[in-house]
Amino acid sequence: MAVTEIPTSAAMFVAQVETIFHQYWGGHYEVVKTFFGQPRPQEQLLKWLDLQLYKEIHVVPVKARQLIEMYEKLDGEIDRGEYEAEAYEMADEVQHYRLLADIMEMITGKRRPALEFKATAEQSDLEAKRRQYANAAPLVRSVGGFNPGGGTAFGAAGAMIDGGPVQRQLADAFKVIYRQELEHYNKNRFIFDRRALEAEPQDYSEALTYAQELARSHFLMRNASFSHPLSPARVAEIDAGNVTPYVPPRLY
Ligand SMILES: [Fe+2]
Repeated sequence: MAVTEIPTSAAMFVAQVETIFHQYWGGHYEVVKTFFGQPRPQEQLLKWLDLQLYKEIHVVPVKARQLIEMYEKLDGEIDRGEYEAEAYEMADEVQHYRLLADIMEMITGKRRPALEFKATAEQSDLEAKRRQYANAAPLVRSVGGFNPGGGTAFGAAGAMIDGGPVQRQLADAFKVIYRQELEHYNKNRFIFDRRALEAEPQDYSEALTYAQELARSHFLMRNASFSHPLSPARVAEIDAGNVTPYVPPRLY
C-alpha cells in the first residue's frame, strides 16, 4: 500500500507513517508465526539466535556511551527522568541478551563470548540505513524511534509459541521482550508525535521516505534472520500491502 498522497497536516502525516510501519510489522508478526508454526532444522533456530544475540548486546556499549554523555548534562539540558528511562532501556537490552543466551547455551551446551555474535548482511543494511539518516532533521530522525514497534510485533508472535522445553523458554523470553519493547516504542512514539506537531510540512517528504525504507529493511532483516520462512512472492504481497497490519497497543 504505497503512500502517494502528499500530507497537508501533521495528523495526515502521522497516519501515513503509521500505515507504512503497521503494514511491515504485520510482516514481522507473520515471519515469527510462520517460522514457529512447523518443525524447523535446529541450525535455523541457532542461526536466528546468533543474530538476535548480536542485536541485543551490540547496542549496550552504544547506550552506555550515551548515558555518559547525558550524565555530563544531567539536570541541565537532560532531565533526570529521561536519564532514568535511558538507563532502564539499556538494562532491558542486557536482559534480552541474557534470556536468549541462556537458551542458546541450554541447546548447545557451550558458552560463547558476546563479541563472537556478528551482524548478517541484512542487519548491516539496516544499520547503514539508520546511519544514512543520522544527521537528518529532528522529525526525520524521530522516525527511527518506530523500530521497537517491529520488536513488539516479533515479541507478540513469539510469546504465543508452544512445544517442548526450548519453545516454552523462548515463549517466556518473548513475553519479557514484548513488554519492554512496547514501553520503548511508546516512549519513542511520544517524541515522534511531538516532533510531528512542531515540524514544517516540507520535512514530511524525507521522513516518509525514511519510514518506508527503514520499515522495509527491518522486515527483510527479520525474514532473513529466520532463514526466509516467507517466500519472495509473499514478501512482494506484503510490499503491496496485502497483509494484516500489526498495531501495538497504545499507552495514551
Ligand atoms: Fe532487545
